[in-house]
Amino acid sequence: MNTLRVELGERSYPIYVGSGLLGRADLAQPHAPGDQVMVVTNETVAPLYLDIAVAAFSELQTDSLVLPDGEEYKSLEVLERIFDALLQRRHSRQTTLVALGGGVIGDLTGFAAATYQRGVSFIQIPTTLLAQVDSSVGGKTGVNHALGKNMIGAFHQPRCVIADTATLSTLEDRQLRAGIAEVIKYGLIRAPAFFAWLEEHMDELLDRQPDALAHAIRISCANKAEVVAADELEAGQRALLNLGHTFGHAIETGLGYGVWLHGEAVAAGMALAAELSSRQGWLGGSDVRRVASLLAHAGLPVAAPAALEPDQMLELMAVDKKVVAGRIRLVLLKAIGEAVVTDAFDPGLLRSVLDDCRQPASLSRAGNP
Ligand SMILES: NC(=O)c1ccc[n+]([C@@H]2O[C@H](COP(=O)([O-])OP(=O)(O)OC[C@H]3O[C@@H](n4cnc5c(N)ncnc54)[C@H](O)[C@@H]3O)[C@@H](O)[C@H]2O)c1
Ligand SMILES: [Zn+2]
Repeated sequence: MNTLRVELGERSYPIYVGSGLLGRADLAQPHAPGDQVMVVTNETVAPLYLDIAVAAFSELQTDSLVLPDGEEYKSLEVLERIFDALLQRRHSRQTTLVALGGGVIGDLTGFAAATYQRGVSFIQIPTTLLAQVDSSVGGKTGVNHALGKNMIGAFHQPRCVIADTATLSTLEDRQLRAGIAEVIKYGLIRAPAFFAWLEEHMDELLDRQPDALAHAIRISCANKAEVVAADELEAGQRALLNLGHTFGHAIETGLGYGVWLHGEAVAAGMALAAELSSRQGWLGGSDVRRVASLLAHAGLPVAAPAALEPDQMLELMAVDKKVVAGRIRLVLLKAIGEAVVTDAFDPGLLRSVLDDCRQPASLSRAGNP
């Protein structure tokens, strides 16, 4: 097992990464300060891992709640079901919420923990690659609104993150690839050597070789932990973690939540950001090709879906948390491993990228031509 730390003063916490951690009371229980625990999961994950996760809290009153599965359930209505369960089972302010699942369960449960009785403890037990490398670390929690992704939420740090890499064995290939998109993101924004490592070892990751996966998860979490420690509330550099996300969120909202996976939409968004960076004259042509070819090698999309018109994309991109005074700000690349947040791009070039980089109409899913 490896232990990383997110350094946030008295709110610092460990990230445990390893195989077979799920049932370990010695890791989980010390981070539940009261005598009650509510494990929140979904109907896909529950039959696989709920019993063993609950066993790690055997000395406490442990309740569980099984929600429907899907991005479309990351909503205020479903959040209310968590509050219903907490109140029905008389959970006090000393309770601990445990998120067992992917990023959807993590974001929902974290937001419930941020707001139930003005804030209670919570533990992240991420079971998708995406959640293990990204969403479980850093304290961003929230739900979607029909008009915009993640528009309602709060910063609320977990007490610990328990990333059991063995749980990835049951993940669908498409979900694994979506997680790889966020892994590639770290290479692109701040870790050029890691990007080169990914170019060398992508097949091993796709084959789920344990050493390769563990390395990718460790490096990703270490990068995320450093960024969050330096800028918890996203006053500056944390925004770089949004590379590809303004485009990606527009795709997710525009197609309807869950049609393209979050990681797929982010992959297309990173390819579009690289292309815009190149048309702006900031990124060399060979680097743009490296970005697109690594994403394609991972089986991820590198263009926007045909179903979304460029006008619609632009309109959706204007509903973004990075918009300041009506101007879209984007994360763009100066090099592989160097990103900037900027509104100093030519809007005409953005429009040309949206016009030119669309998948053929024959490709209705988030595949690769
Ligand atoms: N808070 C953050 O900082 C942050 C960062 C990145 C993404 N996100 C959010 O995370 C969400 C995406 O997360 P995700 O990709 O994990 O999606 P997800 O939570 O929908 O999980 C993907 C699918 O895998 C299933 N699953 C989970 N674990 C499994 C396992 N071990 N075996 C088999 N199936 C399993 C889930 O039930 C679901 O069907 C989006 O809502 C995105 O906005 C948040
Ligand atoms: Zn993301």
